[in-house]
Amino acid sequence: MTDQVNILAISGSLRAGSFNSALLRAAADIAPPRTKISIYDRLGDLPPYNADMDHEPAPEAVADLRRRIADADGLLIATPEYNYSIPGVLKNAIDWASRPVATNVLRHKPVAQMGAAPGNFGTVRAQLALRQVWLWTESRAVVKPEVHVFRAAERFNERGHLTDPTTRELVKQLLEELTIVVDDQRRANRDRPAAGVGTRPPDPAWPAPASAV
Ligand code: FNR
Repeated sequence: MTDQVNILAISGSLRAGSFNSALLRAAADIAPPRTKISIYDRLGDLPPYNADMDHEPAPEAVADLRRRIADADGLLIATPEYNYSIPGVLKNAIDWASRPVATNVLRHKPVAQMGAAPGNFGTVRAQLALRQVWLWTESRAVVKPEVHVFRAAERFNERGHLTDPTTRELVKQLLEELTIVVDDQRRANRDRPAAGVGTRPPDPAWPAPASAV
């Protein structure tokens, strides 16, 4: 078993001064030596999901996203909260990644999530909505610690550096938990290769059109 853990980190914000992107940069800094965090920067290149475009060959940015998720041992998501829920751009990326159902690259993928907001609720509601998504995608969501970075402006300095020691410790714990899930999933893939990605028959409870599976 290779010891290195490769994590693809996705921020749900396109904003240059995003707290959530800054939180991911902090995570890359805090990560233990065996964990390598690559930050995904093509969220804005993805077209709006359209089932009529969801066939081979996939749009280039979509194929790139799916490949990068498939190649990663796990995902780290930092999401803002928009109107009490997941920002459309992040949900759009997840929707593209989740198709076709039979080769859903999110299936069994270890996923850790966190979020930052200027207000007092620190993405609580967005993260609850996001947790619900991992149920359908059958991703292996890290349950705790919950990382809700509320009053974010007080925890980052003017250069976007995460200075709050409590938040840094929480992010470190989250990465440690993610690593545990990655190791566990690697064992499962080795012991039960047939349970891996790409072998799932279309769900009879939700038949997708033939063109989409
Ligand atoms: C917001 N914001 C916001 N904040 C919140 O706590 N609950 C919410 O429901 C919303 N809704 C919302 C909708 C829209 C369309 C925008 C643009 C913003 C504020 C939001 O949390 C804030 O802009 C964050 O700073 C966004 O995260 P980044 O860009 O700093 O990562």
